[in-house]
Amino acid sequence: MVSRELVPGVYWVGAYDFDRRIFDELIPLPEGTTYNAYLVKGSEKTALIDTVDPTKEYDLISNLVKLGIEKIDYIVINHAEQDHAGSLPMVLEFYPDAQVVTNAKCRDLLIALLHLPESRFTIIEDNGTLSLGDRTLRFLITPWTHWPETQLTFLAEDRILFPCDLFGFHAATTELFITDEAWACRSAKRYYAEIMMPFRSSIKGYVERVRELDPAIIAPSHGPLYKNPKFILDAYAGWVSDEVKNEVIIPYISMHGSTAKMVDHLTGALVTRGIVVKPFNLSRTDTGELACSLVDAATLVIATPTVLFGPHPSVVSATYLANVLRPKTRFATVIGSYGWGGKTVETITKMLDHVKVELLPPVTVLGEPDEKAMLDLDRLADEILKKHKELNIV
Ligand code: FEO
Repeated sequence: MVSRELVPGVYWVGAYDFDRRIFDELIPLPEGTTYNAYLVKGSEKTALIDTVDPTKEYDLISNLVKLGIEKIDYIVINHAEQDHAGSLPMVLEFYPDAQVVTNAKCRDLLIALLHLPESRFTIIEDNGTLSLGDRTLRFLITPWTHWPETQLTFLAEDRILFPCDLFGFHAATTELFITDEAWACRSAKRYYAEIMMPFRSSIKGYVERVRELDPAIIAPSHGPLYKNPKFILDAYAGWVSDEVKNEVIIPYISMHGSTAKMVDHLTGALVTRGIVVKPFNLSRTDTGELACSLVDAATLVIATPTVLFGPHPSVVSATYLANVLRPKTRFATVIGSYGWGGKTVETITKMLDHVKVELLPPVTVLGEPDEKAMLDLDRLADEILKKHKELNIV
């Protein structure tokens, strides 16, 4: 491992994880990830900002040793989750005089998760500052930039923002700064969908707060850094806005082909009406791609066969995920084929209690879809078009 210099006296000292392919046993990581930690040297004090995943703690320590860091005064923890705070016990052991600097809620979580003594903590308030001599750290307490204890740290003199998860994305690259903004935007959108979307209303305010800081560099704790913060701030402003796109997302499963025929027909009917459609066969869908598609689509059509008396378990799982991610989707409905009845539509619609959607009429059919079922799907496509036109997005 190596350290990297952002500006004189400020270093990336984190770890690459090229091999990691899943996070939380849920989120696929097709490009791996990084755990970014930063060292800030002031004229009087030295601060480490965040640590790394415990599986990479030796990389962090090695980076600090190679940089010749004999004393750390402060370890700022922006977020208690293990991928950023999990190496804290080892760092505290190596640097026994260091104080952990964080907010009270984060301290309580760190004590619960890592069993650290309370005496090692210095507590900061929102907008509080910490002097390193010729450099100053300012703290913004920003609950729900993933967990309720999260905060951002701003290095005032250099105008570098360390927002931990916020604005980051999962990609293991040795490029310190982003060079391909289109790629970064796609990856950051996926990350936003997976991690930040449930907290859209809070994040809306934080984006504006960050704009007021006018950072020269945004240095998140996953992925490469932004030397052009405007593009990610603008992208976030769009994702957290109430604007939706003329898109229909169709997560589906088909066991014997009937529901797939309905999805095919509805897809064609929507496309001929000028609507963008993204079907996701859940038997082979990347969860992150599905989440990403939900960021700004106007309509969600859940397509499922009835298994025994309810929806297919894979569809239940996808619906649960869509519900907890709380996308700004405006309309939803259910289509699918059944064999002898059941409560599929009722079960699915009840699961969407966190999403503020208008439910459109479902289309279900006994067995193989017939001509009437196809006409019902055409009518559903008409209804979706009408709703999208009312939003002026067609
Ligand atoms: Fe990257 Fe919420 O941890």
